[in-house]
Amino acid sequence: MSKIRAAITAVGGYVPDYVLTNQELEKMVDTNDEWIVTRTGVKERRILKGENQGVSVMGVRAVNDMLSKKKIDPKEIDLILFATVTPDMMFPATANIVAAEIGATEAFGYDISAACSGFLFALATGARFIESGAHKKVVVIGGDKMSAIVDYTDRSTCIIFGDGAGCVLLEPTTEEFGVMDSLLKSDGSGAPYLHMKAGGSLRPASHQTVDLKQHVIYQEGSTVFKFAVTNMADVSAKILERNHLTGDDVAWLAPHQANKRIIDATANRMGIGEEKVMMNISKYGNTTAATIPLLLWDYEKQLKKGDNIIMAAFGGGFTWGAAYVKWAYDTN
Ligand code: UT7
Repeated sequence: MSKIRAAITAVGGYVPDYVLTNQELEKMVDTNDEWIVTRTGVKERRILKGENQGVSVMGVRAVNDMLSKKKIDPKEIDLILFATVTPDMMFPATANIVAAEIGATEAFGYDISAACSGFLFALATGARFIESGAHKKVVVIGGDKMSAIVDYTDRSTCIIFGDGAGCVLLEPTTEEFGVMDSLLKSDGSGAPYLHMKAGGSLRPASHQTVDLKQHVIYQEGSTVFKFAVTNMADVSAKILERNHLTGDDVAWLAPHQANKRIIDATANRMGIGEEKVMMNISKYGNTTAATIPLLLWDYEKQLKKGDNIIMAAFGGGFTWGAAYVKWAYDTN
């Protein structure tokens, strides 16, 4: 019997309307457009405004966008995986909130916490459920409302992050398309360099944790940067090598959008020219688990059946990884 693979058969996305520009940030912290653009590549980012607007709002809109394009009934969905570090609540899982909102009454779901690598970790997990033959329609969402945990007085973090959500549908195929390989890594000794200090069971919320600003991202940027450059490039090179591919065989690199300098280093190491590198960091910033599905959403019309795509990410945990996906459809 031929091997069952998990093909990406549809993509959806959502970014909020509100645009936070570098010029606006110049009025909030001691920074300037030139520094932000040259050091990160970000020009603007989207922010989800309003009361009672959790990340699920964006996840629901991304999935509904995908379902309306694909014209499938939400009741056909077997499983929803939501990669996020900014869930609506500590529990229940945001995946379940999305399932209820979209009417996916037959689906089970859960969240995956792997920060900026979350979408890749969820994609690999979803693919296993399809490959087992047990499930036919798996929705993988990557979404984060980073504005909920960004300190807008900290110029070193508030300039990079933004809000958004993207998703893909995985379905079985016995053809040579879909998730061909994935290589995932984590190293908990990286936690001190990128984390949120309070709000978990270690340090539950209290007046003191609020006063000490411990419910926001803590990042030692230059340390994270060094690990990101090395590890994202290493894992991308390894996945090429073990699939007997070179940069010439790759149609697209879909890299996590944390910093344009990290993306450039990864592409260089893989021997991939910038015309093949998906990039939207300038308009959305770093949307954590949403960056890769939002790239697919933005570039969907340019993708052709059979295209070799390498996805790569690095983030808090530390977590990092790469996936090799053979694109399964032509749009239209
Ligand atoms: O998403 C996954 C995980 N995260 C990442 O991959 C992010 C990795 N890190 C980065 O992208 C970069 O480290 C940052 C963008 C966060 C910071 O850039 P950097 O080039 O590493 O800056 P730095 O922290 O080494 O700071 C260099 C200088 C410092 O000034 P002094 O001490 O040299 O006088 C900072 O105070 O730049 C200063 N600086 C700023 N200046 C203007 C830091 N942030 C700003 C700013 N505007 N927004």
